[in-house]
Amino acid sequence: MEDEKGGDNLFLQVLTTHAICCNTCEEECEHLLILNCSSALWEMVSAAIALAFVPLLLTLIIRYRFYFVLFYRAVLLRWVQDFMTGISREERVYQYVLTHATPGDPDSILDTFDLWCSNVEFISHIGPKKGLILDRLLKELCPLTVLELGTHCGYTTVRIARSLPLGARLYSVEMDERNARVAEKIIRLAGFDDDTVELIVRPSDEVIPRLREDFGIERLDFVFMDHWKRCYLPDLQALEDSGLLGDGSMVLADNVVFPGAPSFLRHVRRSGLYEHRVHRAALEYIRGIRDGMAELVYRGIK
Ligand SMILES: C[S@@+](CC[C@H](N)C(=O)[O-])C[C@H]1O[C@@H](n2cnc3c(N)ncnc32)[C@H](O)[C@@H]1O
Repeated sequence: MEDEKGGDNLFLQVLTTHAICCNTCEEECEHLLILNCSSALWEMVSAAIALAFVPLLLTLIIRYRFYFVLFYRAVLLRWVQDFMTGISREERVYQYVLTHATPGDPDSILDTFDLWCSNVEFISHIGPKKGLILDRLLKELCPLTVLELGTHCGYTTVRIARSLPLGARLYSVEMDERNARVAEKIIRLAGFDDDTVELIVRPSDEVIPRLREDFGIERLDFVFMDHWKRCYLPDLQALEDSGLLGDGSMVLADNVVFPGAPSFLRHVRRSGLYEHRVHRAALEYIRGIRDGMAELVYRGIK
């Protein structure tokens, strides 16, 4: 009898344990189900958010593709080539011009530069399209005394020099000695001597106030600005203060749209000293980036 009772108790204990165990299992299952559901929901939400960003990302890539190309050609490619060749980009373009252009022929030298800058590496010259505007203005004005700010490798220097009338003089200012060394070689290769083109290797803010004393200049007929954009405004004001701008003197400033020179343009508009217009044109050697050159004609009336 006692054995039978003991057996029943054991049986009851097993049943109760089993019941408790089943309850726990069910709760765990419910928890697992809820967890699974919520992580699936989270995955769906993240996928939806990611999908929503795809068109935005594509739009940005398409819209700014020309800036990516510019970054690649002007920065990344330059780093790689500097590293691989061990010489500067300016020396590389000089060697290309030396081996591909005809010495003494400015047109051939400019064409060779354009070929290299379009197909090999990017250099921020004025380029062939904006160059045509520069050529036309020089032909119309026939300036006798010209100042260029920012020579770099001498591309625009050669471009300006070939359009000048007989007896005219171009002063080109470059603060970087390595660039100036390349520019000097390019200018002489194009056939321009020291009487036509004088290269001044100093920063513009030191040169402008001393143009009268150091170079005997009485008036500037044409000024081409293509140096650092932050220098445009102080240098224009220094030119105004120097008294070297006369009625009808022209100032042509490149890249006033990209990278842009807003404070310079604001001064031009507000000062009342200039007749002015902006020639719209694409950035040199990269289609799709808008740029422009500001043409100012000094009238000197406040
Ligand atoms: C954009 S590049 C000039 C390109 C050149 N005008 C052309 O189209 O062939 C700018 C040059 O200006 C020079 N530069 C920048 N700021 C200057 C300054 N304040 N005075 C003199 N040169 C400057 C730089 O060293 C650089 O070589």
